[in-house]
Amino acid sequence: MKVRIDPQRCQGHGRCYELAPELFGDDEEGYGQVTGDGVVPRDEEQTARRVVANCPERAIEIL
Ligand code: F3S
Repeated sequence: MKVRIDPQRCQGHGRCYELAPELFGDDEEGYGQVTGDGVVPRDEEQTARRVVANCPERAIEIL
C-alpha cells in the first residue's frame, strides 16, 4: 500500500501527522507531507486507513 496527499485539497488540518507521525509530516506551512516515498509498512496499514478517513478535506488517497 502507498499513500499520497493531494496538495490541492490539503488545508493543513494536521490530523494526518498527529495521528500517524511515522507516516506523515508537515512542511514549513503546516501542510501534510507523506514520509519518504509514501510506502506504508504492512503493520501500519490500518493506521493509514484511519488517517485517510480522518482527513476533513479527503486529501489523502491510497494508491
Ligand atoms: Fe492536510 Fe488532511 Fe493532513 S488537510 S494536513 S492531509 S489531515
